[in-house]
Amino acid sequence: MNLLHTTDLHGDLAGLEAAADLAAASAPCILAVSGDIVEWPMRCLEKDEWMPCMDTLFKISDRLAASGATLAATSGNHDAWASAGRVPWFGLLRPGFAADALQPARSSHEVQIGDGLAIVTCFPWRNDSGPSALSAVTDFAEAGRMLREPFPESPWIWLYHSAPGGTPVGVGAANDEANAIMEVAAAYRPSIVLCGHVHGSPWLDGGAPFWTDPRSGALFSNPGRRQTGICLSSIEIGTGTEPPVCNWRPNL
Ligand SMILES: [Fe+2]
Repeated sequence: MNLLHTTDLHGDLAGLEAAADLAAASAPCILAVSGDIVEWPMRCLEKDEWMPCMDTLFKISDRLAASGATLAATSGNHDAWASAGRVPWFGLLRPGFAADALQPARSSHEVQIGDGLAIVTCFPWRNDSGPSALSAVTDFAEAGRMLREPFPESPWIWLYHSAPGGTPVGVGAANDEANAIMEVAAAYRPSIVLCGHVHGSPWLDGGAPFWTDPRSGALFSNPGRRQTGICLSSIEIGTGTEPPVCNWRPNL
């Protein structure tokens, strides 16, 4: 099962199209975009940049579905700010799914990829931290756990915008929004956590695009962002107990 991960496009719709082209050529696969799809303040339109972004996402979703790939996207801080909290592209975007899945019960989906099944859980951007964030993030994880219960061998893939500070994928993180995801991952043990937000982390001392969390056993991915081109990671998930095969393309 192949997973492609990009993040923090910040309004680079051409980059998103390029990632979709690669996903279509790599199908069957999941293309995951872990937030900050738009830029705030809007840099390319006077208002409502999120609306054409939404249209682009749906068109890409339809195109990928026709080629056997699935688009999954979650919100980042810029998406939340730009859409005044509406963030309609949170969730799994493919025909048959509503795009306003802001509730935990609608945040996890079964995704058939070739011969394999994955459970994908998308966590929305949160401005808070501490106990309230921990409680809310736990609600989304619990909904995913219930969906995954009949399929314990299937990979469980989380999309969460903030990379955890103090780890190789979150070098330079300036705040602790991501602390909740670390706690919840340790309790729920997802297979993979796809994050972003910390653009330069993979290039900084002690940084890396991938990191396996010893507490949860989850593989964390943050491909980072550069001013030109897109950063794309591929994660090949086998059917056995061997670890995923990871590759990072930092300037596509
Ligand atoms: Fe961000």
